[in-house]
Amino acid sequence: MKIAVVGTGYVGLVTGTCLAETGNQVMCVDVNEKKVKMMQEGQLPIYEPGLELLFHRNIKQNRLNFTTDLAVAIESAQIIFLALPTPPNGDGAADLSFVLGAAKNIAVLMKQYKVIVTKSTVPVGTADKVTAVIKQHTKQEFAVVSNPEFLREGVAVDDFMKPDRVVVGTTDERARRLLAELYAPYVRQGNPIIFMDERSSELTKYAANSFLATKISFMNEIANLCELVGADVDMVRRGIGSDDRIGKRFLFSGIGYGGSCFPKDVQALAKSSDEHHYKFKILESVMEVNALQKKILVEKVLKYFNNDIKGKRFALWGLAFKPETDDIREAPALQIIKELLNLGAKIVAFDPEAMPNVKELVGDKIVYANDQYEALENADALLILTEWSVFRTPDFEQVSSLLKSKAIFDGRNLYDLQKMIDYGFYYNSIGRKVITEYAAVGLYQ
Ligand SMILES: NC(=O)c1ccc[n+]([C@@H]2O[C@H](COP(=O)([O-])OP(=O)(O)OC[C@H]3O[C@@H](n4cnc5c(N)ncnc54)[C@H](O)[C@@H]3O)[C@@H](O)[C@H]2O)c1
Repeated sequence: MKIAVVGTGYVGLVTGTCLAETGNQVMCVDVNEKKVKMMQEGQLPIYEPGLELLFHRNIKQNRLNFTTDLAVAIESAQIIFLALPTPPNGDGAADLSFVLGAAKNIAVLMKQYKVIVTKSTVPVGTADKVTAVIKQHTKQEFAVVSNPEFLREGVAVDDFMKPDRVVVGTTDERARRLLAELYAPYVRQGNPIIFMDERSSELTKYAANSFLATKISFMNEIANLCELVGADVDMVRRGIGSDDRIGKRFLFSGIGYGGSCFPKDVQALAKSSDEHHYKFKILESVMEVNALQKKILVEKVLKYFNNDIKGKRFALWGLAFKPETDDIREAPALQIIKELLNLGAKIVAFDPEAMPNVKELVGDKIVYANDQYEALENADALLILTEWSVFRTPDFEQVSSLLKSKAIFDGRNLYDLQKMIDYGFYYNSIGRKVITEYAAVGLYQ
């Protein structure tokens, strides 16, 4: 099939590449000339595991092409995917200007029947708005389909190639048949394509992300309570996760959710509920808990240093909002950096992939280390902010000898408490016992 993908960010580029991989002819279009030039020269503008191989293969076999010219991109495309940003506007609602702007431009250019598919996360009613805009500017026949994307950065290629499910919202029979054909190679193992109406499909995406964010905030509150009552959140997690009705996944406590999706999607769902005069009380709490949770690690650090960290030097391991991505949008690390700097601290950070993006934002207000151990040299404490695999089993002897004081504040609960006792660290994680010198002499059981 001939496909156009409008917007080549994390979603658009993965979508375009993975659609080319099953034999489709894909033209990706983006307004960012620098990005398009990079891709035309065979360079990936983002870090996403597994993408590079498919990207190069499909460019080489001439199934995947890039342009800044929308007219060229859509000319022969039967299906046009919109993978455009939907950032929050001032009041938290999703800003639809990218999507509606592109819809208008497509309408003006289209010369035959097209299926326009919204992959961006958009509020209920957007398909109707896109339809209205297109109708205003063309006499051609078309269908607007909602097809929310559920891929996760870090495992996006796998998620696209083997999705748990594909959700397609359309009431147009011709569009339904085309999308069923397009997605057939991705659902061969019986994972379903779930067809529904456009509105239900649009809401499905927000419901999914908001539910996951709720799980995170819930576990973070359990963790906070664990600290007060002397329980261990890891034990509680295992205890509840083995109940099939709850499930094992997404029950890890930490320093709050970030990324380009959860914060904005929870906010947008709350806002659209407001617009329908419905107070979505749970979502208000989810957001409030998350905002507080992002502050927790710095509070722990302040308490340890008697509220004075001026001139202290902190090593940060991890900057990305989660491992296996270079994406730092809404990453807890950004807030922690800001707070530590405001309190007069010095920061040396290491992240396997996200440092260039942080450098663009924060510049030389912090120091960037060449590796995780260099970051530790003479640091007053280590703060762990992203659970990259490489931080899971470090050389603790080296960590211990490089740190000025042997203090670790772990926002991701990476280490075994007994191990921390054995190495004699002060170790403060989330929802678990604090390991102190007392623990090291045997008070921790
Ligand atoms: N990132 C994720 O993990 C993820 C997952 C599921 C859904 N989504 C949703 O998908 C959408 C896209 O997210 P993303 O993370 O890929 O965004 P992104 O910011 O990484 O990419 C958006 C791209 O669109 C381009 N663009 C902007 N205006 C354009 C225009 N008029 N024409 C062509 N290109 C244009 C930008 O230059 C950029 O390359 C959002 O609605 C997001 O909520 C994201």
